[in-house]
Amino acid sequence: MLNDIEEILYTEEQIATRVHALGAQISTDYQALGPDDLILVAVLRGAAVFLADLSRNIAPSTVVEFMVVEKIKKSDGNAEVKIIKDLDISITGRHVLVVEDIIDEGETLRFLLDALRLREPASLKVVTVFDKPSGRKTEIAADYVGFEVPGAWVVGYGLDYRQQYRNLPVLGVLKKEILTGS
Ligand code: IMP
Ligand code: MG
Repeated sequence: MLNDIEEILYTEEQIATRVHALGAQISTDYQALGPDDLILVAVLRGAAVFLADLSRNIAPSTVVEFMVVEKIKKSDGNAEVKIIKDLDISITGRHVLVVEDIIDEGETLRFLLDALRLREPASLKVVTVFDKPSGRKTEIAADYVGFEVPGAWVVGYGLDYRQQYRNLPVLGVLKKEILTGS
């Protein structure tokens, strides 16, 4: 797998250190909100690795929920986002933290937040382990960001290219010939 990587952006140790700090920050912020369970909503599949590490660095009581969304590029260039798997519980009146792998164009997150907000949670925030601000098509920002990444296709730490590389422990830029050779 490492042969397909152009450059390692973040090592396993750097990611672990940052995720630990994010967990500490989130713990502090939500402890102040009282004893209610915090609902972590992980967006599959990319956020699975981050969720596993982040959740173990969060001190307050949490419950974990999963969603699957799919972004479909339409022929007019616009994107449509569909919920493939919805939450199993109600979030009305509860504190919700969406756990994302990466924000690129921002459309996936925008759609997801709009859909969740309609259910009137007590609070709705977002943590993403990676952020690619140069890719934005819609103005949206996460409340907690692990690392910024450049405008290239990155893989590892849960992020894929055609479902591969998710188990790579580092975050790296995929070689261009792999991307175009598809
Ligand atoms: P967007 O913000 O609407 O572009 O959608 C973000 C989603 O696209 C992320 O949750 C990832 O699943 C995927 N994605 C965007 N950029 C990358 C990347 O560089 N590597 C892997 N997945 C990516
Ligand atoms: Mg995703």
